[in-house]
Amino acid sequence: MSTTEQRVAVVTGAARGIGAATAVRLAAEGRAVAVLDLDEAACADTVEKITAAGGRALAVGCDVSDSAQVDSAVARIADALGAPVILVNNAGVLRDNLLFKMSDSDWDTVMNVHLRGAFLMSRACQKHMVDARFGRIVNLSSSSALGNRGQANYAAAKAGMQGLTKTLAKELGKFGITANSVAPGFIATEMTAATAARVGMSFEDFSAAAATQIPVQRVGEPEDVAHAIAFFTGEQAGYVSGQVMYVAGGPLN
Ligand SMILES: NC(=O)c1ccc[n+]([C@@H]2O[C@H](COP(=O)([O-])OP(=O)(O)OC[C@H]3O[C@@H](n4cnc5c(N)ncnc54)[C@H](O)[C@@H]3O)[C@@H](O)[C@H]2O)c1
Repeated sequence: MSTTEQRVAVVTGAARGIGAATAVRLAAEGRAVAVLDLDEAACADTVEKITAAGGRALAVGCDVSDSAQVDSAVARIADALGAPVILVNNAGVLRDNLLFKMSDSDWDTVMNVHLRGAFLMSRACQKHMVDARFGRIVNLSSSSALGNRGQANYAAAKAGMQGLTKTLAKELGKFGITANSVAPGFIATEMTAATAARVGMSFEDFSAAAATQIPVQRVGEPEDVAHAIAFFTGEQAGYVSGQVMYVAGGPLN
């Protein structure tokens, strides 16, 4: 790459939360960013933040679990911004329930968005990374990968993200491509706000209770996760691959 060429990053689930903070952070690091989410119009705020700061961004509507949509989104990104060589598989959903109440669709939806979505996006983008002999893939796992009550679907998907990451690292390393996983603990987003609502607590009380169990005594912000992702996607991070970084305010037992 010449020093004037700008790398293109794709961040899935970037309309809000961790994905939005990551898109803004990667743009601040000089990347052109495809802000991808289910609804293209919902990506406007993130795109606006990036362009207002002088960056380049493109809103892309795409369901990451749909193969045809993924292939056409990646083709569109390559045409409009350039070859996507940085991929952050961040799109996610929760369908929490105890096992005996978990429906087939609760299971399938979570598997499809996290695992199938990361697989489809990685497969579509790797061609561009292989051609460029450079690539950075970051997959969002979770502290729930270690097991969490009420999240049989999500815990399995997030543990699966770690297995996918390590396999991509092994298969793609020879092309200058790294794959790593970031596993957040409690991060204040609409996802954790929805969990608070589901258990009948105000988000403030829910977050305060969580903070008492976290060594740094606070919950995480989307920017805390974006910082870890920025490290893994950095030009100089080429010898760090197949790793899982927990971003949880302390070690997990
Ligand atoms: N918030 C936390 O505490 C926490 C902890 C650990 C891991 N994570 C993971 O981090 C990632 C981001 O979480 P968040 O808290 O920012 O969530 P969020 O709910 O605020 O944002 C998720 C985004 O993903 C998008 N999305 C959902 N399904 C999609 C699909 N099929 N195609 C494209 N986009 C889709 C949503 O529209 C939304 O904008 C998720 O993978 C989540 O599992 C979050």
